Amino acid sequence: MNTQLTVPENARAAEARHLVQVYAQLGIEPVAAAGVHIQCRDRQILDLYGGHAVAGLGYAHPAILQTLNEQAELLMFQSNVVALEVRARAADKLAAFAPTGLDHVFFVNTGAEANENALRIALKHTGRDRILAIEHGFHGRSAAAGAVTWGAAQKWYGFPRTPFDVAFIGRNDSTAAQEMINGDTAAVIVELVQGMAGAYELGREFAETLAGRCAETGALLIVDEVQSGMGRSGHPFAADAYQIKPDLLTVAKSLGAGFPCGAVLMTSEIAANLGTGDLGTTFGGGPLACALIETVIDEIIGSDLMENVRAVSAALVNALPAGPVKSAQGMGFLIGLRCSAPAKLVRDGLLERGILVGTSADPAVIRLIPPLVLDQPHIEELIDALIDMG
Ligand SMILES: Cc1ncc(COP(=O)(O)O)c(C=O)c1O
Repeated sequence: MNTQLTVPENARAAEARHLVQVYAQLGIEPVAAAGVHIQCRDRQILDLYGGHAVAGLGYAHPAILQTLNEQAELLMFQSNVVALEVRARAADKLAAFAPTGLDHVFFVNTGAEANENALRIALKHTGRDRILAIEHGFHGRSAAAGAVTWGAAQKWYGFPRTPFDVAFIGRNDSTAAQEMINGDTAAVIVELVQGMAGAYELGREFAETLAGRCAETGALLIVDEVQSGMGRSGHPFAADAYQIKPDLLTVAKSLGAGFPCGAVLMTSEIAANLGTGDLGTTFGGGPLACALIETVIDEIIGSDLMENVRAVSAALVNALPAGPVKSAQGMGFLIGLRCSAPAKLVRDGLLERGILVGTSADPAVIRLIPPLVLDQPHIEELIDALIDMG
């Protein structure tokens, strides 16, 4: 396997002139994309990485392009200083799509911003100052979201201290959860399927313990569905599959099918405790984002995409083991494939064969976060490539 894929000279070199060099980049240069395929200068690639889980409907989706054009012509932007019908419609749609009880929405722009606000809301609502998170969870790069991200302090956090007390509960350690969640806990933040960790699916009993203990102690349960949400789990949200009722739920990535946007969903009881000036953003809830959120939800429901996710995901799992891939973890289209070779080598080997997958924090796990429109033949293509790798 060739691990040193050559990076096209032009884009990489051009970026280096003025862009801060903080990303380990892949050796491809996309110039266009349609459906589940990325067009590079020299070849077409099957995209099982979905633009970092953002391209939920794939690329150049006709309904998305139509919405973008129509809304841009109609009203490109107005901030939250004015009420907009399109914003109200997006909130109605998202609240209806969300787990029961989460009927209020605050629109933001990114996953980190959604988590930052969810944490702020929990601290304010409870009047407590301690947050619990789960080992190996990822919640974003901002001060509060980074504070609850496992390993951030050692790797990149950079701030001299966290803005509140934080402690981490071991994965699936229900005993620790019972003990650690108490009357001092403002909130527990959790990814039910830990994305960056390699699509690691937390146990049902552990998730129920978190929810039960939060309810007993008055702590709030924040479920981070920035990566797992919007149909990716094969359900509207992973919380639906777990039958867990969060107090707050965060979503971003594929919410706008590529247009940057995010949201914090919450119960009406929490929303009732928030007043003018408590939260704010310039771009969050802009008309373009809101029009796209509406279209994304209509498409997920109207085209039975969650059914497709469940069926195609099951077909992949049934086809394993294949080549270096020994087993699968995760849920729906948030899949971790455990390999007998280093994940980076498997990723590079697949890229040589025209298939893009992601890696994860687990060095033995490659991550698949493809568009929800991915089909069975694409899975066959992946399996053939894996077998070819031996
Ligand atoms: C679960 C989860 N939460 C939060 C974030 C942060 O989102 P953003 O990069 O949009 O700030 C990510 C990003 O990968 C994520 O996977």
